[in-house]
Amino acid sequence: MILSIESSCDDSSIAITEIATNKLIYHKKISQETEHSCYGGVVPELASRLHAVALPEILKETKPWFNTLKAVAVTNQPGLGVTLLEGIAMAKTLATLQKIPLIAVHHLKGHIYSLFIEKETTFPLLVLLISGGHTQVIRVKNFEHMEILATSMDDSVGESFDKCAKMMGLGYPGGPLIEQLALKGDENRFDLPVPLRNSPLIAFSLSGLKNAVRLVVKKLGGDSEMTQQDKADLSASFQKAVKLHLLQKSKKIFTKEPIKDFAIVGGASANKYIRSAYENLCSEFGKTLHVAPLEYCSDNAAMIGRYAIDAYERKQFIDPNEIDIISTKKQQNGMLL
Ligand code: KG4
Ligand code: ZN
Repeated sequence: MILSIESSCDDSSIAITEIATNKLIYHKKISQETEHSCYGGVVPELASRLHAVALPEILKETKPWFNTLKAVAVTNQPGLGVTLLEGIAMAKTLATLQKIPLIAVHHLKGHIYSLFIEKETTFPLLVLLISGGHTQVIRVKNFEHMEILATSMDDSVGESFDKCAKMMGLGYPGGPLIEQLALKGDENRFDLPVPLRNSPLIAFSLSGLKNAVRLVVKKLGGDSEMTQQDKADLSASFQKAVKLHLLQKSKKIFTKEPIKDFAIVGGASANKYIRSAYENLCSEFGKTLHVAPLEYCSDNAAMIGRYAIDAYERKQFIDPNEIDIISTKKQQNGMLL
């Protein structure tokens, strides 16, 4: 078994995965959404303190598997430094006490492996990763070779949902709240700009759209003056502009990339409106769409454990004294390292 730990943002999660079968034996996640909701976003220090309580609580439940453990895996990048620290401290201690190898996992590679929980891997694969921290298209040849083809120049998709929700006084996380509200809204009421519409760049940008939403909120008198219908219409119009932006840039990539399998991963890949738009796009381009089960779209330790199996088979271990905490950094096109 491999015990895996995830604490890169506001979810404390631990999983146990069987190496020989990829079977997920145990998985638990404690989310901190309620605690961060009043701030409209994640407060790193608060998140860190909540991990310090939640992780040991979950770990207690995994004791029955302790003597079957062959390795411990932990997310070490990218993420919030103070929250990564909590998971890493626990993983280092476990690896040392149990005398088992330690595996450092790149969070974004973990999201890609959310597609393979309890499954074999299928490569090559084109992946659109839309999370709270990142928006990227990645060409995944295999475990070793993951190349970033496009990235956001500013905000990520999830972040733009969170910030627009905050402007409308909806709470956190904004993604699911905006998606729900948009169901009752008119997506054509506000003519919001589709980012980089006339640019040949194969890249993403969400900050201009976010600013356009801010101006509409201001024009309507601020969130306290807006009616529920105003908020629903603005949510729907915003979501439509995000969808059109993603589709426009994805089309450019699809015309160049012969890989038949395409996947959407990350927290925002739970969005059914975006998923269904990609179902249509994939059928238009003859591609097969893959998505992770809804419960594994947002951060979880099951995806970290699944990646760790492939790392374990390649003996990609790290000395507990040498594991680095690599906090959030904007990644340009290049390899996912
Ligand atoms: O992957 P994730 O759990 O964390 C990061 O690695 O960043 O993604 C969290 C993000 C949040 O910004 C959240 O608002 C967004 O995913 N999200 C959604 C939806 N569900 C979660 N965005 C749009 N629509 C959703 N249904
Ligand atoms: Zn994530």
